[in-house]
Amino acid sequence: MTTTLHDSAFVRACRGLPVPHTPVWFMRQAGRSLPEYRKIRAGVGMLESCRRPDLVTEITLQPVRRHGVDAAILFSDIVVPLAAAGVDLDIVAGTGPVVAEPVRTAADVARLRALEPADVGYVDEAVRLLVPELGPVPLIGFAGAPFTLASYLIEGGPSRTYLRTKAMMYGDPDLWHSLLSRLADITLAFLRVQVGAGVSAVQLFDSWAGALSEADYRRYVLPHSARVLGGLADAGVPRIHFGVGTAVLLRAMGEAGADVVGVDWRTPLTEATTLIGADKAVQGNLDPAVLFAPWEVVEREARRVLAEGAAAPGHVFNLGHGVMPETDPDVLTRLVEVVHGG
Ligand code: CP3
Repeated sequence: MTTTLHDSAFVRACRGLPVPHTPVWFMRQAGRSLPEYRKIRAGVGMLESCRRPDLVTEITLQPVRRHGVDAAILFSDIVVPLAAAGVDLDIVAGTGPVVAEPVRTAADVARLRALEPADVGYVDEAVRLLVPELGPVPLIGFAGAPFTLASYLIEGGPSRTYLRTKAMMYGDPDLWHSLLSRLADITLAFLRVQVGAGVSAVQLFDSWAGALSEADYRRYVLPHSARVLGGLADAGVPRIHFGVGTAVLLRAMGEAGADVVGVDWRTPLTEATTLIGADKAVQGNLDPAVLFAPWEVVEREARRVLAEGAAAPGHVFNLGHGVMPETDPDVLTRLVEVVHGG
């Protein structure tokens, strides 16, 4: 089975090897766009569902069965390892992660403890259940990158301005670096559990890094993300690195140590490839909002993304960010057929 997974179109595209067809999966492919997801999640909290290997397995498999995508992504959330390491938080429907006691001082940072593999035994178990169920379909593990995790911890929840996050970053760089360093340790430990349990690739989500200039990204963020990605260099699985609004960061993100850089819809993949470097694959980048346009537009835009992706050494088709909950799942299924050459 290992040979099959290593030879899958998805893993081959990540490695820049020739593929029979462009592989495709969707960020947030498991979730509220699927009626079967809404049904199984009824009455079960988000964090609780992430801690139940039976639910994680079923929810992860749902979009694979329905759409025939080339990869599954583990059903979890970027704040799961933080909660497992003792941070008091919840994931509120329609809002996102909410942290009871935001991290603002040196004492708050000192209270953040390391993540032990036993803290996330349910993740290990879910991956071990999923790998045989998925057969030839590779499973992507993931984690939040230190900056994006820090933004939730410091703000206490989602933010549009990242004011408190940036206040700590500029105002107390020592504290900032000690926080990001602890978060890098947690993220690396969390990804190692997933790799040890058998995932075929990992994605590091730095969703909100696009709030920074390139200079600040290089100074305050890149070294910590690079330590996470570098810590997986010997793991034998492709590493994907993704953020939103990263047009000015793509060059730097390409230097952080991933094999694949995810690109949002604002930057054409041809331009992204020039910035990221010809030794890396790209992932993306159809605007998730295009899925609400008439089908002819969806198809035209998908073909444009495929043509632009051909400039890169490897291309994994995806959206430029996650599937919106209101998306018609049948459009996603048809999109997979187009990417596969239909
Ligand atoms: O299919 C997949 O992509 C796997 C599942 C997945 C979830 N969260 C499940 C989830 C993944 C990869 C994530 C990562 C995640 N979580 C990120 C990085 C990816 C990105 O979108 O940039 C971020 C920033 C978070 C934090 C977070 N958690 C947000 C912003 C939200 C949405 C809040 C909302 O309700 O609109 C969550 C909750 C969440 N995570 C949901 C799901 C399916 C929705 C909650 C629910 O279904 O009840």
